[in-house]
Amino acid sequence: MKPRCFGRFTLLLRVGVVAGWAVTGLAVTRAAEVAPDALATQTREQRDARMAWWRDARFGMFIHWNVSSVPAGVYHGKHNAFAGEWLMHDEKIPVPEYRQYAAHFNPTQYDADAWVRVARDAGMKYIVITAKHHDGFAMYHTDISTWGIRDAGPFKRDPIAELAAACQKHGLKLGLYYSQAQDWNHPGGATPGGKWDKAQAGNFDKYLREIAVPQVREILTKYGPVAVLWFDSPYEMNRERANLFLPLLELQPGILFNNRLGGEYAGDFETPEQGLPENAAADRDWEVCMTMNDTWGYKSTDHHWKSAETLIRHLVDIASQGGNYLLNIGPTPEGLMPAASVERLAAVGRWMNTNSAAIYGTSASPFSKLPWGRCTKKVDASGARLYLHIFEWPAKGDLLLPGLKGTVEAAYLLADPAQKPIPFSANSTGVVLALPTSAPDALLPVVVVRITGQLQVTP
Ligand code: GLC
Repeated sequence: MKPRCFGRFTLLLRVGVVAGWAVTGLAVTRAAEVAPDALATQTREQRDARMAWWRDARFGMFIHWNVSSVPAGVYHGKHNAFAGEWLMHDEKIPVPEYRQYAAHFNPTQYDADAWVRVARDAGMKYIVITAKHHDGFAMYHTDISTWGIRDAGPFKRDPIAELAAACQKHGLKLGLYYSQAQDWNHPGGATPGGKWDKAQAGNFDKYLREIAVPQVREILTKYGPVAVLWFDSPYEMNRERANLFLPLLELQPGILFNNRLGGEYAGDFETPEQGLPENAAADRDWEVCMTMNDTWGYKSTDHHWKSAETLIRHLVDIASQGGNYLLNIGPTPEGLMPAASVERLAAVGRWMNTNSAAIYGTSASPFSKLPWGRCTKKVDASGARLYLHIFEWPAKGDLLLPGLKGTVEAAYLLADPAQKPIPFSANSTGVVLALPTSAPDALLPVVVVRITGQLQVTP
């Protein structure tokens, strides 16, 4: 077992320290600052234009799916306490033995259209799926290796092609995850903590040249528009090795990539995982990725699900700090999303149906900290809208917006089509809304405050 004894947070710190990328505990920090050469000539405006859809979206779906969904965290009858998609590594499963799982990976119930509808109905605007995770198994039709869904198992369809088509149909952006350094099945791939099977022996640079780089070229050319390339765990990656991948980005004009390529490339956005940042950097784009239970890949024994209310609060908290939320699903080997995930996303979708205006296209809260909840905002030439996400409804109805100056034009519940005015008054501490004393019967109610002229908040 590798040292993941404190579960996901230890993993997070371990990976972050080894690779030097930008996850430290729960805080978002600056990545090593080097603009990718290919993008260095971009102006601020060009970069803003490239990032625009992503900044507006705020909410996406992560999908971790591969052969590891067959053992699903159980090896020789023993439940591994932590590992799902890491099972092969943590249990040191020999390569020939792990490869046998592929024969049982036959997701005949996979329905990409249904998956995309689940994401769309939850209010998600993009999907990032594992084209290849650390076990090296290609979830698409690759001509570079026989270790993939077409050649190593019974399922002959191409899940990535089907997902790409469904995303196009429903207007969601497609992102592809590719583990560029770790590979526990191809000779020479990185295996943190050491190799455990002689089949893994080999030269890492040869692996990059002959497997990883050609496969990234494949995924960027076979599936139409790819909006995001999501690299992961840059073990052993240095500048020179990272440089092998950069030119490939030009195959997809406008593509975004994350900060896990390695070689000190900052990428377009940072990727804190599994926790909510505090005091997130305002000058960098970032996306929190998070599991709904405790595992990325499907794990049959992991029933530790976050509630729908928690997920909504996370989305709101992240948006209130100016970030994106990439929420993960680990589908089963039959090709189904776990019912617990689907139910929760449906509840998030019901909330988004009423309240998505308080998420999409918003920016970070102008207030430093609010005891009763979170705030997101939209600012334009004529004024601003504050969206107050009320976690704790005030018992007496009075809600203080500390330090708010400027002309409040109206306040009302976002869920109220009649926009019945909520009375407000200003005093030396800020603006006080007189909310009804009982909370509306809703999961996380949102109050809109419209401001004319300049938005001003004094600390
Ligand atoms: C970690 C894990 C991995 C997961 C990823 C998602 O790096 O190694 O299993 O894909 O986090 O952010």
